[in-house]
Amino acid sequence: MLDPRRELAELSAALRAEMEREQGMGRLRVGRPAPDALPPRPAAAPPLSDPKGTAVSRPDPTPSLSGTDAPVPGREPARGRAKRLPKLDLETEPADYAGRMTALNALGEEASGCVRCGLCKGRQNVVFGTGRARTRIMFIGEAPGADEDREGKPFVGRAGKLLDQIIDAVGLAREEVYIANILKCRPPRNRDPQPEEIAACTPYLERQIELIQPRIICALGRFAGQFLTGQPKATMAGLRGKIAYYKDRIMVLPIYHPAALLRNPNLKRVVWEDVQLLRKEYERQP
Ligand code: URA
Repeated sequence: MLDPRRELAELSAALRAEMEREQGMGRLRVGRPAPDALPPRPAAAPPLSDPKGTAVSRPDPTPSLSGTDAPVPGREPARGRAKRLPKLDLETEPADYAGRMTALNALGEEASGCVRCGLCKGRQNVVFGTGRARTRIMFIGEAPGADEDREGKPFVGRAGKLLDQIIDAVGLAREEVYIANILKCRPPRNRDPQPEEIAACTPYLERQIELIQPRIICALGRFAGQFLTGQPKATMAGLRGKIAYYKDRIMVLPIYHPAALLRNPNLKRVVWEDVQLLRKEYERQP
């Protein structure tokens, strides 16, 4: 039997090699493209509203960026890594940023005592989500596994290592994005989320999205893809690599779940293609 750590290292190396190969062939574009090289953007999204219908202000649509290729503190640039995007300038935080953080923390507190479905009975921790409230991109998975349930954080197990590679290929670090799941509690034996659990839990996710207001959501796997694109019957093969919109406002790009990649390394080519699309669309966002 394959050693899981070796298997993971091999998959990571394969993704990295793919990236280096594309760079070598000049197909992996690094840096922001010239504006006139871009296809037209969809019309600006209308303001978000909270569940009561009150308008929630959007962040500054053109956040100013500091530097051109600032490294993430504490992270050594790895050989072959995609060019890192400029870091957001904290001085230009929208006025409501602190308020959003407070509201997210309050929501996390509320979720920590949630008894909306039967999954509360078996959990060690509610896995609410982690990352920056001010980010242009969210990654949304399916549900916590055993490692996540134990630690109370999303994607800390083997699939999380691959997610780190995916985030890295977009040119970002985990600390610069927000990561959450469709379900906040672990289903027994990691079984599929049930429709009533999704219905009970996703109001938390919807509120997280409303508060963070990302430009792009990367949906990891079928359940996230179905929910976020509003296509409850879609297959992963039908969802992947196609741009859709969450509530007609936020771009959603579904890709195969990292755990699927662990089960079936043959998927790495399509995951790689989808990650390139994700990076391209991310770079186009204001
Ligand atoms: N798989 C998920 O979908 N989410 C996690 O947090 C971990 C594994």
